[in-house]
Amino acid sequence: MDTTHVRGAAELAGNTHSWQAQMIRPLCDEGVGTPASFLSKRFDVPSVTGSETLRISALGLYRCFINGQRVAADLMTPGWTAYDKRLIYQVYNVSDHLKPGENEIVVWLADGWYRSQLMWGNRPVFNCWGNEIATIAELRADAGSGDLIVGTDETWRSGLLPVRKSGIYFGEIYDARLEDRPADSGAAAIEFDMARLVWHDSPPVRELDPLPAIGSWMDEAGRTVYDFGQNAGGYVALTIEGEAGARVIVEHAEILDKNGQFENSNYRTAAARLEYTLKGGAPEHYRPHFTFQGFRYARVSIEGSASVTDILSIPISSVAPVAASFKCAQPLVNRLVENTIWSQRSNFIDVPTDCPQRDERLGWTGDAQIFASAACYLHDCHGFFVKWLHDLMADQREDGAIPHVSPDPTRMRPDLYPGFFGSTGWGDAIIIVPHTLYLHYGDTAILSETLPAMVKWVDFVWSISNGPIVSPPREWGQRGFSFGDWLQPKGPSAKPLPTVSDDVAATIYLYIAATLVADIAARMGETETATRMRGMSDEVKRAFAHEFITPAGRIGNDDQTSYALAIVHDLVPEAMTEKVREQFRHAIARCDGRIGTGFIGTPALLPALVKLGELGLAQQVFLQEEVPGWLYQVKRGATTIWERWDAIQEDGSIYHPQMNSYNHYAYGAVCQWLFESVAGFRPDPEKPGFKRIVFEPAILPELGPVTATHVIGQGEIFAGWTLSGDNVTYKVTVPDGCEGLLRLGQDYSEIVVDGRSVSAGTDTLLAAGTHEITFVIQTLRPGLVLAEASNNVPK
Ligand code: BGC
Repeated sequence: MDTTHVRGAAELAGNTHSWQAQMIRPLCDEGVGTPASFLSKRFDVPSVTGSETLRISALGLYRCFINGQRVAADLMTPGWTAYDKRLIYQVYNVSDHLKPGENEIVVWLADGWYRSQLMWGNRPVFNCWGNEIATIAELRADAGSGDLIVGTDETWRSGLLPVRKSGIYFGEIYDARLEDRPADSGAAAIEFDMARLVWHDSPPVRELDPLPAIGSWMDEAGRTVYDFGQNAGGYVALTIEGEAGARVIVEHAEILDKNGQFENSNYRTAAARLEYTLKGGAPEHYRPHFTFQGFRYARVSIEGSASVTDILSIPISSVAPVAASFKCAQPLVNRLVENTIWSQRSNFIDVPTDCPQRDERLGWTGDAQIFASAACYLHDCHGFFVKWLHDLMADQREDGAIPHVSPDPTRMRPDLYPGFFGSTGWGDAIIIVPHTLYLHYGDTAILSETLPAMVKWVDFVWSISNGPIVSPPREWGQRGFSFGDWLQPKGPSAKPLPTVSDDVAATIYLYIAATLVADIAARMGETETATRMRGMSDEVKRAFAHEFITPAGRIGNDDQTSYALAIVHDLVPEAMTEKVREQFRHAIARCDGRIGTGFIGTPALLPALVKLGELGLAQQVFLQEEVPGWLYQVKRGATTIWERWDAIQEDGSIYHPQMNSYNHYAYGAVCQWLFESVAGFRPDPEKPGFKRIVFEPAILPELGPVTATHVIGQGEIFAGWTLSGDNVTYKVTVPDGCEGLLRLGQDYSEIVVDGRSVSAGTDTLLAAGTHEITFVIQTLRPGLVLAEASNNVPK
């Protein structure tokens, strides 16, 4: 049953309405890791008018029932925010739940992100935002500030739930014998600043379509392992029959080891476990209430007399439905796109997280910024990211440093995690994510809202070394520490390949940041800021060329990341382009035509090659199937994107289970390139929100035929091409209310648009509707001729 979110009159007016109710806690609650509790109240409703509205939030997670009927299908409410500064509340129309006469409201409460373990096992943070769970709720006669029917106060009663223990990483223990226990305890109001309450500004987390098991088998210990065929973030739904007191235990895993055994040591200290005790009798149905796990496999053990008669995997996510499609001639590429969609779903559970399985699941800023644009192609992420940006701003430090993760548990526990902020490439999320929302949705409000925080961030980065060349310290926790290009492959340890140095990575990011903020400030009419930022960006550019580009065209440590980022972001003086191109090709050749980039370098690698006109090499690097490479993992049966290129090695062994995830969307950022370069459409910054769509395809013959779609507010964008010999037919659809700009460079000739010849190198305006364009491509600039075997295979 569904209950729609209501935009109450007060919320729409931007006035979050003054609360009459109190934030109350259940007196029976005994703290983190102990049984979950409920708060309840009986109340009278003389007649039901149809506009009764519930406003509700909690410290912890809540689930609300009125007369035994659940209010809304939203999960993990009220969501995860920087709770000490912002606590989201939801608004629901609940008339359908009410009846004239006596009614009862019950609010279930559990630890959730508020006080269950966050951060990894050697320094876990419990009770991060407080040690008392509590709820605030008001049921009013209408969606404005109509009469209060009932609100939380000290007359409410409390009791314990069958949820005996729950935690985000932990999982859930549920004893069905303890259902329907009486409210035998009271409630107490706690001190709470109502100004922290903000109306929910993001889409709810919901269940997606269930996934049935595609296979199951019994292991040597008599446990049944189920394979759902798809790694996902969510939980299992069980149907069980058996005797009262029998127990069903579910463990989760993303992979099987090379001997086919259930393997989840990469979850580290996340127990990720469910325990259900049967009440006996009729078939019992169970899905956990206050947790989710990242898994493809579930291992079920049964103690006592019971059997599982049905089991499903239920993915959950804040994002649905899918807003784009990409299909080409390469099945592995098509699956790579699918895998990215799954990694986005699994990690867009209220906050953009790194991974959904281990003792982390944090809102890592670097991961979010590199993936933001791909994310906005694949799903509508507008509200989702706006909410997150509000937390990011709330978490920004006084001196402008942006934390590595947001919502940031380390801000609450600097004793455990000192200096967990200020990395270039990560903190830049404060600029790149709002700018992405501007490009994709035309949102200028988020730009003006975040601009002051952006400027503070740029000033912070500049201040690290007091100048245009940023030299970050090496140690974690020191001011300005940088992750550089996290997980950049180093090759064999006997003869490691060069990786980007921290100062090159940080300086390039200072340039990206100052340049973007200069543009944004200019758009917002903030001329002074624009001029100051432009001055900084020019200075960084000059200093970068002087310091990091040799006269022979080598950049930085002569590694792929240094080249890719410098080229994409225009840090290479035009006169040096040819030399740099040659050196870049050598750097890729040294890696045997494979990827040599990590988190921040990878999204730039193929765009850099396309920008240089190196289409043959771009195609070669993208389509090669060995490690490191996008398609290696797909070939090995991945159903989501791996954190590391070599998460499972060629011999099937698992790389470093202490730092490994099979569901990390970061490298899925390549989907942005598939849409923007291969299918060839992108939003024009001058008319953002796809009001004007730039069409500029890079024809990579081995990928053709290509088709791609993207759903925007006005309709569906389509682009697709086929190649016959050197002749391309490119078809595009521009939705109503939008216009297109076709941009075909000098490499293309004999261009005909809807039967009309146009010359290369000029922009052609395309009206809303479908267009057919034909043109001829030149012979591709070739890729690399690689030796059969090499010692240089990066590992
Ligand atoms: C996370 C990331 C993150 C990285 C930064 C990892 O533990 O999973 O994805 O960006 O740390 O170093």
